[in-house]
Amino acid sequence: MSDPIVEYAPNIPDLLQWYHREHRPMPWRETENPYYIWISEIMLQQTRVDQALPYFERFIHAFPTVESLARADQQEVLMLWEGLGYYSRARNIHKAAKQILSECEGSLPPDYEALRSLPGIGPYTAAAIASIAFKLEHAVMDGNVIRVVSRYIGLEEDTRKNATRSGIQKVVDEWIIGHPPDDFNQAIMELGATVCTPHKPACEHCPLSAQCVAFTQSKTERIP
Ligand code: ADE
Repeated sequence: MSDPIVEYAPNIPDLLQWYHREHRPMPWRETENPYYIWISEIMLQQTRVDQALPYFERFIHAFPTVESLARADQQEVLMLWEGLGYYSRARNIHKAAKQILSECEGSLPPDYEALRSLPGIGPYTAAAIASIAFKLEHAVMDGNVIRVVSRYIGLEEDTRKNATRSGIQKVVDEWIIGHPPDDFNQAIMELGATVCTPHKPACEHCPLSAQCVAFTQSKTERIP
């Protein structure tokens, strides 16, 4: 049997064109600075894109480099995290900055496994930094990606299950091949955040709707 994942791969150039046209400009999208991308991706795990902006600007203004963050007082770092919650994330960022300074001369390593070994950097953040900052072919999977993919392929399984999630990871690992990894990942996350929303998705504006199983079979309210 042919592999439905590969057979029904969406038109990625359409998705990328949509992203270039429609994405919300954010400072971490206009930079290739791995440090900025790292900080923004940690913030974006707990805050919506538009809400993260003032926190990001304040943080980067206070600590413009990995070195300045590594040398900062922990209380100062925690104060700048106030309002974002999850203080363990701020503590881990601080710890990781010290490690990057002592072990990598202050530069984030351009390697998925090396990123993954830093405090507070899990599979999502490592893939985000590797792809957006270093253009490495690592597909991210967050809640937005899970929704876009499961609707597109018409997946009716429980997306909280590990097996379902590894299936979705396999799908995006295929889809990303041969495309700019930074734009691919950000496009699919942006589509999930702005068009393929949990309720009442704006399918009329979606670049993938023509072949989307959930859309063509009127199942968007049921999937995922
Ligand atoms: N959500 C988290 N990180 C994102 C990014 N870089 N682009 C779009 N949505 C995101």
